[in-house]
Amino acid sequence: MKKVNRIAVVGTGAVGTSYCYAMINQGVAEELVLIDINEAKAEGEAMDLNHGLPFAPTPTRVWKGDYSDCGTADLVVITAGSPQKPGETRLDLVSKNAKIFKGMIKSIMDSGFNGIFLVASNPVDILTYVTWKESGLPKEHVIGSGTVLDSARLRNSLSAQFGIDPRNVHAAIIGEHGDTELPVWSHTNIGYDTIESYLQKGIIDEKTLDDIFVNTRDAAYHIIERKGATFYGIGMSLTRITRAILNNENSVLTVSAFLEGQYGNSDVYVGVPAIINRQGIREVVEIKLNEKEQEQFNHSVKVLKETMAPVL
Ligand code: 2OP
Repeated sequence: MKKVNRIAVVGTGAVGTSYCYAMINQGVAEELVLIDINEAKAEGEAMDLNHGLPFAPTPTRVWKGDYSDCGTADLVVITAGSPQKPGETRLDLVSKNAKIFKGMIKSIMDSGFNGIFLVASNPVDILTYVTWKESGLPKEHVIGSGTVLDSARLRNSLSAQFGIDPRNVHAAIIGEHGDTELPVWSHTNIGYDTIESYLQKGIIDEKTLDDIFVNTRDAAYHIIERKGATFYGIGMSLTRITRAILNNENSVLTVSAFLEGQYGNSDVYVGVPAIINRQGIREVVEIKLNEKEQEQFNHSVKVLKETMAPVL
């Protein structure tokens, strides 16, 4: 009998449950265990999600569990922690959430967990580092959602601008999932043509591209101002990463990965393109950045390291 894929979701707030909803609707996993300090909430969410199963493409077992269920999980997805409030940056959350994480990771590891961690809570790059440090797991088995969502936002905006299917838009945001992130225009292509060529032909100008990037970078602020939180986009991004892991896809996604010299930086988790498969992070893809991109990337890493230092 094939081994059952079990995913434990820690945190059943809006992000955790949007992830579960997307997972069930895409038929990605066989078991979803919902864990929350508010056990009644986790139980209620599991009940609600179960009621949609007759309409899902494949069966998924969904139930409320606790940390001891992580012991047999293939993947633990962490969405727990204090969320961003209007006016707050992701980095403002660091001390509160790093503290919550230290206790939580210990409880998960006490269950005998030896699978892959996927971290979504903010500031995601720093909390992914904390997870790696506290868990003692190999760096390849600890992944942050990084700039997967930001890259999706950018692809979506470019798709609207050019009238091209977002699946034919190859564009990446790298760096911190936050205010210092950057677009990799030097490696962007739309329907097989480069952004450079679109600029030369006068189909787009630098100012429009810059506006598209700024809107992408600040998208979470715009959404939080309007509806208080973001959750569908991140839920689907986490589902995309999960599929790459469970189906051993070798997909290239801009996750938060540990650097050991790549992009001239080390000892940091930060958004970069990486090959994702059943082993977690197979390898970081090191593309040649131009001078401006490299400078922006270094600045992003510097800000992450400075913010992280007091909480480690
Ligand atoms: C987002 O980018 C808030 O990090 C969350 O939607």
